Amino acid sequence: MNEQIVILDFGSQYTQVIARRIRECNVYSTILPYNTPAKEIAAMKPSGIILSGGPSSVYTKKAPLPDKAIFNLNLPILGICYGVQILAHFLGGKVEPGQKREYGKGTLTLKDPSCALFRKLPAALQVWNSHGDKLTKLPDGFVPVATTENSQYAAIENHERKMFGLQFHPEVAHTPRGKEILANFVHGICNCGKSWTMRSYVDHAVEVIRAQVGKEKVILGLSGGVDSSVAAALIHKAIGDQLTCIFVNNGVLRAKEADTVREVFGRNFKLKLQYEDASKLFMGRLKKITDPERKRKIIGKTFIEVFQAATKRAGKAKFLAQGTLYPDVIESIPIAGNPAAMIKSHHNVGGLPKNMKFELVEPLKCLFKDEVRQLGLELGLPKEIVYRQPFPGPGLAVRILGEVTPARCTILRNADAIVVEEMKSSGWYYKIWQSFAVLLPVRSVGVMGDERTYEYTIAVRAVESQDGMTADWVKLPYDLLERLASRIINEVKGVNRCVFDITSKPPGTIEWE
Ligand code: XMP
Repeated sequence: MNEQIVILDFGSQYTQVIARRIRECNVYSTILPYNTPAKEIAAMKPSGIILSGGPSSVYTKKAPLPDKAIFNLNLPILGICYGVQILAHFLGGKVEPGQKREYGKGTLTLKDPSCALFRKLPAALQVWNSHGDKLTKLPDGFVPVATTENSQYAAIENHERKMFGLQFHPEVAHTPRGKEILANFVHGICNCGKSWTMRSYVDHAVEVIRAQVGKEKVILGLSGGVDSSVAAALIHKAIGDQLTCIFVNNGVLRAKEADTVREVFGRNFKLKLQYEDASKLFMGRLKKITDPERKRKIIGKTFIEVFQAATKRAGKAKFLAQGTLYPDVIESIPIAGNPAAMIKSHHNVGGLPKNMKFELVEPLKCLFKDEVRQLGLELGLPKEIVYRQPFPGPGLAVRILGEVTPARCTILRNADAIVVEEMKSSGWYYKIWQSFAVLLPVRSVGVMGDERTYEYTIAVRAVESQDGMTADWVKLPYDLLERLASRIINEVKGVNRCVFDITSKPPGTIEWE
């Protein structure tokens, strides 16, 4: 990865979005803490620097400030929102609290069409604003380039030093042509080519993996989810049979899950797959357990036990591979007042015990999820795996309320298979975050033919979400809901009622548990 853009993170909720937009321009980008020493940045030989937005004000005492030497690296710099304040603070401008907070849609009017940032863009653009403070005096050597209704310095430029400031957010979807502005910065101003593609990443990653692993063995826990699947395919391409994948059947998998994994990885990819059927062990331990947290703990602990024993059987391996992604490793410095910095996923914490002494192979560590999917396609994985909806580690156990029994698993598995099938055939499956069935442990009365029934209820849940942290229920068409209910009640023995969950997150969670 020769060319890259460094993004200094001042705590904006959009910092990762900037990084993704830059990569969509086929230029690699790295997010660094705002106070990374200029020497460290220079050593990475970036082609340009972006200063992200952030919730702070430069004139407050604890304002996050960068190493001022970054302005002497002779690199193009683009300041976004709070980043403009940083330019003003260090280069002789002035920022004051705005009379009116400028928030939401605005129209940008271009005053200087020669500015390289706006090359090939029209004189009026829709932009998204979100700032309270305002630039009131331009930093030295800067000229105004564009205005909005509320700001005479909405875009500014120092032509000679290749420094730019944007008061609005070019990275968000509400600035429809913002990506072209960013593309102008990286290609037109920083002179980056288009070398960052998943095709080129495959070759790069294969070399890196081979160099790290040498002739040693690697173990990987394959769950069938996107990340571990892509990691498996990539590592297998690099080192073939030196990789052993362990797939644990915990008894709470979806219908045909184990078969699919064995089919795709074992038979098609001819990858060394160690299938561990521990479903009886898990089921035994889940007997009579109704508390959701205890269920999770039992499943987590049992998984580690089974996995640990399986690694021993797999033979001595020096490395453990994991499908860790870039958002998990970005070093974020908590910045007061920034909620994004405080939100941490509560799932999947803990990991493997410390006594499992492996070195880690993490070939997806610098990739975003959309890049991982692209990489998966590049490696020949089927769409069913690459675009699979998220599925929780504790599987159907979190979707069976109350005790998890083999009989209840069968009911839910059958209902869930219908949901997946209908969502796929109607085209909705790939459009939304998640859709699934939940088994409620209550029975209610119904009639079927002439007979009175007393059976379980299935709840169908379909949500849209960006990252699982917040979610909206999906307004599925009535005819699809009708088909789902009718098929579930008619085809799944033990169910006589179907409801659709219309709860958002918050206040609800996505899973019921
Ligand atoms: P909740 O239910 O907390 O779920 O709103 C948010 C997202 O996380 C998924 N989820 C899990 N994923 N292991 C996982 O890998 C888990 O234990 C787990 N629990 C919930 C859930 O499906 C949703 O997408």
